[in-house]
Amino acid sequence: MEPELPHLIAGNWKMHGSLAGIAAYANAIRGAQPHADLLICPPFPFLDRFAQALAGSAIALGTQDCHANAQGAHTGDVSAAMVKETGATFVILGHSERREDHGETNAHINAKVSAALAAGLTPIVCVGESLAQRQAGEAEPFVRSQLLHSLPAGFAGIIAYEPIWAIGTGLTPTEPDVVAMHAAIRAALIEQLGSAGAGLRILYGGSVKPNNAASLLALPEVGGALVGGASLKPEDLLAIAAAAPRD
Ligand code: PGA
Repeated sequence: MEPELPHLIAGNWKMHGSLAGIAAYANAIRGAQPHADLLICPPFPFLDRFAQALAGSAIALGTQDCHANAQGAHTGDVSAAMVKETGATFVILGHSERREDHGETNAHINAKVSAALAAGLTPIVCVGESLAQRQAGEAEPFVRSQLLHSLPAGFAGIIAYEPIWAIGTGLTPTEPDVVAMHAAIRAALIEQLGSAGAGLRILYGGSVKPNNAASLLALPEVGGALVGGASLKPEDLLAIAAAAPRD
């Protein structure tokens, strides 16, 4: 079933950018009025500056992680409630870089998703296979297992399908492979969540650029894009948003 929401173009800045660059970036995007929804997920220290620079615009803010606990002795971590307090409304969880760099398991991600939902944030849960898994024909069962174990009962949020081998490489899956995986994710969501799973947005992520966005975003069950490298340039992010079909 096609989501009825507008396409969502979400920028994942990862560990890039600087405080000094935020005003110019925000100015470049805040007047754009694209027909897609826009979301920026900068590093934690930039959130407040971004919230001020985007105040009054329709552009949403999010973070790239949160802790599973509401508070406590967790040096270096940030809770979902703290994220919410800054004015951010989304949180990316389970990105493959966090699974890899921080040993995050599906169980950790499941707990973080619950914390995000309890704080009133919309989680964007990332799933996706390695190249070896795709070549072995294991991509779909692997992603289904990630969904089964990463999503708590009653999940209400967004899924981002990001094949690990497509992230930052300039490679993308073939269109039939994207369509097949998004259909498999939709079927898994409905199986897990019932009718609530039918309307959740499923983003594609991995080397989305202005020159491939129109074809990727037009595919069935692709409800938007999670954009890394290209989100650092406001003109590229806006070009991707402009390439989204009008819903
Ligand atoms: P990329 O990153 O667009 O630079 O491939 C996507 C992501 O990791 O979210």
